[in-house]
Amino acid sequence: MKAAFLQTAPAFGRIEANVKKVVEKIRSMDAELIVLPEFFNTGYQFKSRKEASSLAEDVPGGYTCKRLMETAKKKKLFIVAGIAERYKGKFYNSSVLIGPKGFVGVYRKTHLFWNEKKFFAPGNTPFKVYNIGPARIGMMICFDWLFPEATRSLALQGADIICHPSNLVLPFCPEAMITRCLENRVFAITANRVGTEERINGERLKFIGKSEIVTPSGKILYRASGNKEKIGIVDINPKEARNKKITPLNDIFKDRRGKLYKLL
Ligand code: ACM
Repeated sequence: MKAAFLQTAPAFGRIEANVKKVVEKIRSMDAELIVLPEFFNTGYQFKSRKEASSLAEDVPGGYTCKRLMETAKKKKLFIVAGIAERYKGKFYNSSVLIGPKGFVGVYRKTHLFWNEKKFFAPGNTPFKVYNIGPARIGMMICFDWLFPEATRSLALQGADIICHPSNLVLPFCPEAMITRCLENRVFAITANRVGTEERINGERLKFIGKSEIVTPSGKILYRASGNKEKIGIVDINPKEARNKKITPLNDIFKDRRGKLYKLL
């Protein structure tokens, strides 16, 4: 299966231009699954709830989903994309899954990062796995990486590939995702952005790039640079993620000792 990410540098607030650029790139790609960054259409650093309100869109009725649905249909592929969602008077940092037949599902970011908490509501969508034919995939967004329960929940439900739209500013995630993959024996596609935003005086955000595709044995198949837009495509066999054995006597899921863990 050809799995891919797009590492982009969105311009804040310019939804049509950001979407157009990504759609053109997708049209040029030979891939079956493409993951885009968090807030790929709006940019990241919102200054007010009013701004969130003016840029958030209905899912799947809004402009961005419609353009992605047309593109997925034409190219016969699946797209995972981070967008700002409007739903019942609230705004969510969401990830949509869109396929050749249209809208498939939405995930709303569970663990909000920093100022996101001021303008967006915490997600209310349980972690869920979707069967897209060649693979079973799950979605989480950026900072969710720091909560191992997110990946674990998807892996325990049978996800082969974790699709991970991101806007990383801390340096740790690209290395940490190797562990997330190893401890769950899953693939992960982290699609990050590059560039900087300083829409709030004194709060300059530099996005670290380094989008990557990692295997269930922790191998980095592709890692992008820290400062350039990039298309990354690799060939993977998603079924590799279904073998949870790490030695002949250790199946990392069957070996779990749930009764001894105090998780709440
Ligand atoms: C992040 O969650 N965007 C760091």
